[in-house]
Amino acid sequence: MTDFTVIGGPSSEQLARKIATRLKSKFIGCELRIFPDGESKITLKGNPSGKILVVQSIYPPVDSNLLRCLAITSQARTFSSQVYVVLPYMGYARQDRQFLPGEVITIKLVARFLKAAGASKVFIVDIHSTTALEHFTIPAKNISAVEELAKHFKKMALHDPLVVSPDKGGVERARNFAKFLGVDYTALEKQRDRKTGNVTIKSKGLDGVKGRDIILVDDMISTGGSIVKAAEFLKKQKSGKVYACCTHALLIGDAEKNIIKAGVTKIISANTIPGKTSTVDVSPIIAKAIT
Ligand code: R5P
Repeated sequence: MTDFTVIGGPSSEQLARKIATRLKSKFIGCELRIFPDGESKITLKGNPSGKILVVQSIYPPVDSNLLRCLAITSQARTFSSQVYVVLPYMGYARQDRQFLPGEVITIKLVARFLKAAGASKVFIVDIHSTTALEHFTIPAKNISAVEELAKHFKKMALHDPLVVSPDKGGVERARNFAKFLGVDYTALEKQRDRKTGNVTIKSKGLDGVKGRDIILVDDMISTGGSIVKAAEFLKKQKSGKVYACCTHALLIGDAEKNIIKAGVTKIISANTIPGKTSTVDVSPIIAKAIT
């Protein structure tokens, strides 16, 4: 037994159990009641002791899951001065800077909330950008899931694979992913309309795509717009099979359907957000980062 108690928030109970097993720690679940007006009421199903690890992902409903995370954290703080908060998926991380005048940098506020609730350290799996981390005034650490995701592809029989990032911002992720597999990588040029959110691929013809199986790698898939446009582009370049791989598969609305329609063979993601595609377990890397 370690001196940790792991508290599994309602959005991450399964993952939290796995972390607790790896840490050989006590596990406590939470009861969630949602009142008719939409308020969340959290009850801890036991008393934590020692250092506390709160695990709660901030995926939709984002605001509710954030509030639940803050509620659990503040309750945990009454038992211990060392409360580590693990955010497998950190919603609001894309709001890390002002893109248009007047926009609120919401991640800055979320970072302040976490500190005020009693978090002494925060761990986030594949946060959207390191800029987001700079808004925290308590220690905030990113945990990369790239190797865990890449391991999944190592077992597959792919034809002359090429790792592709749908945008230049993701080139380092693609590089690390490709390095682990010992294959080539490249990044497309993507443009997003800041008002409509629509995505266009600006890249022209790409050499070295024809006939090769592609692993499209991104930190997250939300509406699927980025992956759809990238897959369509690669298919026009006569690529082989296209796989979409990301850490956080939000898959909002018809995202999955649209991605498959665009020619993607399979979507593979991590269990930071539980779902049909989340086959890659991040509990080993979280347990390792904590200790
Ligand atoms: C953007 O910079 C991110 O890395 C993802 O590419 C983006 O957030 C995915 O969103 P969507 O699936 O809506 O295109």
